[in-house]
Amino acid sequence: MIGKGIKKFTWTRKQVTELSKKAISNFVKIVEVGPRDGLQNERTIIPTSTKIELVNRLSNTGLRSVEATSFVSAKWVPQMADHSEVMRGIKKMDGVRYPVLTPNLKGFQSAVEAGAQEVAVFCAASEAFSQKNINCSIEQSLDRFSSVMQSAKTYNIPVRGYVSCVLGCPYQGKVSISEVKKVALKLLDMGCYEISLGDTIGVGTASKMRQLLKSLKSEIPVEKLAVHCHDTYGQGLANIVTALDMDVRVVDSSVSGLGGCPYAKGASGNVATEDVVYMLHESGLETGINLNSLVEVGMFISDELSRTNASKAGLAIATKMRASD
Ligand code: HMG
Ligand code: MG
Repeated sequence: MIGKGIKKFTWTRKQVTELSKKAISNFVKIVEVGPRDGLQNERTIIPTSTKIELVNRLSNTGLRSVEATSFVSAKWVPQMADHSEVMRGIKKMDGVRYPVLTPNLKGFQSAVEAGAQEVAVFCAASEAFSQKNINCSIEQSLDRFSSVMQSAKTYNIPVRGYVSCVLGCPYQGKVSISEVKKVALKLLDMGCYEISLGDTIGVGTASKMRQLLKSLKSEIPVEKLAVHCHDTYGQGLANIVTALDMDVRVVDSSVSGLGGCPYAKGASGNVATEDVVYMLHESGLETGINLNSLVEVGMFISDELSRTNASKAGLAIATKMRASD
C-alpha cells in the first residue's frame, strides 16, 4: 500500500471547483502516443528511420504533443532500444512538444542527453502490474520517480505522470478508485503537471469512467487530468466522450490505433487518433489538427508496418480522398 508518507494535497475544495471551471474550453489537446505506446508493442524491429519519419509526419498535422519514444531498458522493450537516435533524429517543430517515457534516473539522463525537453514517469494503481511492468512495487516506483522529479526541476523539464490500470488490471483484476487517487495525488504532489489516467487493457466502460472521474474531480482540478484509453473492448470512444462530458480536455490517442503494452498481454492499441479527432470536430470541439493530414499519416504507418489500419474514420476518409483524386 502506498498510503504512508502521502501529504494531504494542498488544494481546497473551493480551489478545485474554481480551477476546474476555468478548464472548460472548446479546445481539446490530443497527446499522440503512437510512436511510443503504438510502436513499443510491434514484434518486428522497426527501422529507426521509419520511427523518425512517423514523428516528423505527425508534427506536420497540427498536433501539439507527440510522445516520441521511451528511455526504458532495451532488455525489457527491445523496440525502444533506439530511443536516443530517434530523439536526436526527429525535426522538432516550434509549438510541438515531444515527451518521452523515463522509468528511472538512468532513463532521464539519457533522455536529456538526447535532447528531450519533456518527460513522463509511469506508475500503476495495481501492485501486480507495477511488478510486471517495471519490476518494483508502487512505493518503490514512486521513490525512483522522486529522483527523476528532482533532476527534472534542475533542468526545468516538465514531467507528465501516467497512472496505469485505472479501470482494471490484467493480473489482479479489479483496481480500487482510492488506489488510483492515492497514486495520482502522490504524482501531482511530487511535481507532475498532469496525470494521464491509463485504461491499460481497455476494460473500462462509460459508467466506470464517470465514477472514477467523479471521485478524482473532488480532489484534483480537472485541468490536471488526461485520459488514455486503450480500445481492447471497443469502449475507447465512449469512455472519452464521458471524460469530455466531465470536462476533461486532454486525450491521449494513437494514430491508426497502433499499439498496446508489452506487459499487458492481449491489450490492443489506444483508441485511434483519427477517430477521436473526427468525433471532436463533428461535436464542435477544436483540436488544431488537420484531419486529412492525420489520415495520411495513419495510412503511411499502416503501410510501413503491413498492418490493417484500426481507425474506422481513417479508412473512411482515406477512401473518400482516393475517390476524389
Ligand atoms: P530492472 O531489470 O529491474 O532494472 O528493470 P535494473 O536497474 O536491475 O537494470 C537492468 C538492466 O537495465 C541494467 O543493464 C541497467 O543498466 C539497464 P545491465 O547492467 O544488465 O546491462 N537499465 C536501463 N537501460 C536503459 N534505460 C534505462 C534503464 N534502466 C535500467 N532507463 C526497468 C527496471 C524500469 C528499467 C525496466 O523494468 C523497464 O525498462 N521497464 C519498462 C517497461 C515498459 O516500457 N513498459 C511499457 C511502457 S508503460 C505503458 O505502456 C503504459 C502506459 O502507456 C499507460 C497505460 O496504458 O496505462 C504509459
Ligand atoms: Mg498505454
